[in-house]
Amino acid sequence: MSSYKIIEHEYDVVVLGAGGSGLRAAVGLSEAGLKTACISKVFPTRSHTSAAQGGISAALGNMGEDDWRWHMYDTVKGADWLGDQDSIEYLCKEAPKAVIELEKYGVPFSRTDNGKIYQRPFGGMTKNYGNGIVQRTCAAADRTGHAILHTLYGQALKHNTEFFIEYFALDLLMKNGECKGLIAWNLNDGTIHRFRAHTVIIATGGYGKVYYSATSAHTCTGDGNAMVLRAGLPLQDMEFVQFHPTGIYGHGTLITEGARGEGGYLTNSKGERFMERYAPKTKDLASRDVVSRSMSIEINEGRGVGKDGDHVHLNLSHLDKDIIESRLPGITDAARLFADVDITKEPIPVVPTVHYNMGGIPTNYKAEVLTVNGSEKTVPGLMAIGEAACVSVHGANRLGSNSLIDLVVFGRAAAKRASELIKPGSPHEDIGESETQKCLDRFDKLRNANGKNNTADLRLSMQKTMQSKCAVFRTEKTLKQGVEEIKNTYDEMDSISVKDKSLIFNTDLVESLEFDNLIRQAIVTVDSAYNRKESRGAHARDDFPRRDDEKFMQHTLSWCNGKNTKITYRPVHKSTLTNEVQYFPPQERVY
Ligand code: FUM
Repeated sequence: MSSYKIIEHEYDVVVLGAGGSGLRAAVGLSEAGLKTACISKVFPTRSHTSAAQGGISAALGNMGEDDWRWHMYDTVKGADWLGDQDSIEYLCKEAPKAVIELEKYGVPFSRTDNGKIYQRPFGGMTKNYGNGIVQRTCAAADRTGHAILHTLYGQALKHNTEFFIEYFALDLLMKNGECKGLIAWNLNDGTIHRFRAHTVIIATGGYGKVYYSATSAHTCTGDGNAMVLRAGLPLQDMEFVQFHPTGIYGHGTLITEGARGEGGYLTNSKGERFMERYAPKTKDLASRDVVSRSMSIEINEGRGVGKDGDHVHLNLSHLDKDIIESRLPGITDAARLFADVDITKEPIPVVPTVHYNMGGIPTNYKAEVLTVNGSEKTVPGLMAIGEAACVSVHGANRLGSNSLIDLVVFGRAAAKRASELIKPGSPHEDIGESETQKCLDRFDKLRNANGKNNTADLRLSMQKTMQSKCAVFRTEKTLKQGVEEIKNTYDEMDSISVKDKSLIFNTDLVESLEFDNLIRQAIVTVDSAYNRKESRGAHARDDFPRRDDEKFMQHTLSWCNGKNTKITYRPVHKSTLTNEVQYFPPQERVY
């Protein structure tokens, strides 16, 4: 039996993660009278939602006519017909209500002259089913995520959500296919905690740190996704990794798409506005997969800028000074700090940079986790929301500003569903000790590891492989190499070394646990990419350049126990929830 003393907790619901989705769920759960704990490895206002800049989409129609059905069409098309249309309908229809709620909670949105929430144009957001650009992205200058995160944290405190901050979650407690809680390690005093809950809601964000260059924070290690894999459940559509067109060259720091929304444009070494060639209708505001691929082609064909010709320029110096000061203050600072550029005078050097994971834990539109055993089934006691989840509204490619709205719409949906399913204060059934022991055995094995490999070297090797072998453009050859290299890196974990054996703020052990989480996601990402023999959304294969709807208009499901991966597929949901909108069948994409 484990030598750790275990501190017990009982809650109706445990939310794992305190970013935008976790906090929105926590607010709704606490409001509904459910005893709610929110566990986070970082202080809530340091969650990665704070890095979201440009805005949150909702068809409010504050800047001209708009309609949630147009938003739905854009999202289905942006997703390259891999999104579940019931979930997309739910997202787009609920979006205006969810944004007005945020306004009432106190989010300091930028305003129009007549006091309405300011909305800017963003890539792929159109009016009347693809006929012209619409202003749909609600913004708080270029710090929208920061504004939402701080407001929701205040609301969660107001509604008495109980926070467990700087607790690192180790694993889910499963019994007969149902989730009964989780085990977490308190980084501050080294104690181990068992949280019993009728429902665990995973809101742990993405796993951008699988790659070398990403806009993601160091903490974006997809811990919840890896916990799901270790629980014997699948992840979905992991091959779809979004590259944001404008990461600062050499740093990866995000320069918001809002900069192009406000009139910025990209140029190559000849000074050409090359997006006019690739996307004559939407130009610099084409969807991100299209812009990132176009930039990569310019660079690969020798029209990149800089001494190595390996990036392009984002031009903003022609914009009105007032616009820059009031709507783009954050990126003005970021460009000065990370690229030594004054955006009122010079272009910013930018390159496509990993930004978002469309894949994650499969759920329905009520946020309940799905598994597939013959047919789709929900996993009792387990929900997932935000970037950790694959609901799947983003399909093969997410439109900019559809992430923040996903966080709040499905955070809200999870709270609603949990309050339908759980009677506040109902008793917890006994679960025995075996799951806790299994979790602590893995923890102890890593803590006491004395091999020859240090974690930082293994992480770097994984990141370099993913960056070069599972990149914007992919081929059979690079993906095959990627599959092998990532498996080898995984095997090297057998001789990992954790030098610090203590339990208090042991960052060596935290990073090793995070690496264990990352490498499992790297395995399923590259394996899923290797098996998808078509090009769709963010997954662009040189050897299969066309979309293959007959074979691959399906979600990939991947299971991984470390050594072995299993891949199956499940059909995309084609039915809509109501008669207010019809199913959008696949079309050839015209940009
Ligand atoms: O470009 C941006 O501001 C990022 C927004 C998003 O990813 O939704």
